[in-house]
Amino acid sequence: MEASNSDAGAIRLLAVAGSMRAASFNRKLLAAAVATAEQAGAQVEVIELRELELPLYDGDLEAKSGAPDSAKRLKEKIAAADGLLIACPEYNNSIPGAFKNAIDWASRGPDRVFPGKAAAIMGASPGGFGAVRALLHLRQVLNSLGVWTVPGQVTISKAGDAFDEAGALRDPALTEQLDTLTGQLLEYIGSRRRNAAEISTAGGSMPPETASESKTA
Ligand SMILES: Cc1cc2nc3c(=O)[nH]c(=O)nc-3n(C[C@H](O)[C@H](O)[C@H](O)COP(=O)(O)O)c2cc1C
Repeated sequence: MEASNSDAGAIRLLAVAGSMRAASFNRKLLAAAVATAEQAGAQVEVIELRELELPLYDGDLEAKSGAPDSAKRLKEKIAAADGLLIACPEYNNSIPGAFKNAIDWASRGPDRVFPGKAAAIMGASPGGFGAVRALLHLRQVLNSLGVWTVPGQVTISKAGDAFDEAGALRDPALTEQLDTLTGQLLEYIGSRRRNAAEISTAGGSMPPETASESKTA
């Protein structure tokens, strides 16, 4: 599909791997997903968790000095994106602490940047479960922040065998899965844009059923 379907221009995605490791499998997986999204016409910015240099979340630090500049920059990038591409490792059956810390910082403050975003999630692990348990937790966290997640996901087990020397996925079926996943993300964002454009063309008024729902909500 074409990832630009309105006056708003190309769909903008923010991509992050929840690993700091230079040789991260999840960074390689993310790169493959980014390639499929770019082929579909999306504009993708990749950020590095390590380069964010976020301190550990500390409520006292926040109360005293506010959010650090690094957290503010991360929030700005999330706010500017239509959607997120996330490749998340699995640590002890869950989200790595450094990545959860980044989500926690970005969730703070009165200017909420997560609600209304969409995300596609994936994970790679050298073990047999392909980070599936971490993705379960990640989906729960994202949904609780108001992020819509593509129902499907891509998981890679035995990740040590999955990539070639250049870091590309060996199995074309996995690339196809990524293509489907990113396609569903772009389709969702595109359909939201079309709905918003229709509402604005109709004079900005909500359909009656939506209006009555919002009255009773
Ligand atoms: C503290 C820690 C806990 C881990 N726990 C799990 C786990 O529960 N399940 C799993 O499949 N791999 C686990 N691993 C192995 C990681 O999946 C592996 O290090 C992987 O390469 C991390 O992702 P990356 O390559 O993107 O950095 C763990 C690794 C660490 C350092």
